[in-house]
Amino acid sequence: MRKKIIAGNWKMNKNLEEGLGLVSEISNMLKDEYSGSAKVVIIPPFLHVAASTKLVAENSRLATGAQNCSNHKSGAYTGEISADMIMSCGATYVIIGHSERRQYFNETNDWLAKKIDAVLEAGLTPIYCCGETLEERETNAHFTVLETQISEGLFHLNAEQMAQVVIAYEPVWAIGTGKTASTEQAQEIHAFIRGLIGKKYSSDLAEEITIQYGGSVKPDNAKELFSAPDIDGALIGGAALQSRSFVDIIKSMN
Ligand code: 13P
Repeated sequence: MRKKIIAGNWKMNKNLEEGLGLVSEISNMLKDEYSGSAKVVIIPPFLHVAASTKLVAENSRLATGAQNCSNHKSGAYTGEISADMIMSCGATYVIIGHSERRQYFNETNDWLAKKIDAVLEAGLTPIYCCGETLEERETNAHFTVLETQISEGLFHLNAEQMAQVVIAYEPVWAIGTGKTASTEQAQEIHAFIRGLIGKKYSSDLAEEITIQYGGSVKPDNAKELFSAPDIDGALIGGAALQSRSFVDIIKSMN
């Protein structure tokens, strides 16, 4: 059975004290309130990853991750953070190809493919993001855009490597806008992505891949989104910055 994963991407929010406070609150609330099956991943800014990981070490439901990493292993790349460094902090997940990285830092699919390799080589789990802009959806280009993002970013992997990857479908028009994709729209794309993986690898492998939805997931829309057969969790931005809303979303997943 494929894993259900709910991840909170804090983006560039929370100082260290605020961040660690939030991690503790989430951990305590989950212990008291949640007995469902989802794995929960907290993805703070790099600087908070090591301390956050220590705080969740006792709680097996919780893991931590990073929001990005270098495609290089080590060396003279000022300002960069390697996958090995993230691993050494005890984190286990890395977001690769978030639309904000694609849009503001010009990260291309080819570039992201190298980051995926670096993450897998370090033994971490990549959460590979894909998603179309509003214009691409309105011009009916979204299926082509998604196919290109998935094939160029991931299809150089062998089946064993591909089985390690988590995919997050995050339509750009739904991120931070309060305008979530409808459950039907999200389910359609998740099934499409699973179909691409089935064609390239096998339907057995496609069935095993966790595909998260991201884009204005809130406590009041999470349950319906999670009821769709191909939606295996969520990548949450704004609502992950408060323990109550984040935990309420998690509680929507059985
Ligand atoms: P919001 O939940 O704030 O729309 O952000 C989604 C996102 O980008 C998570 O990576």
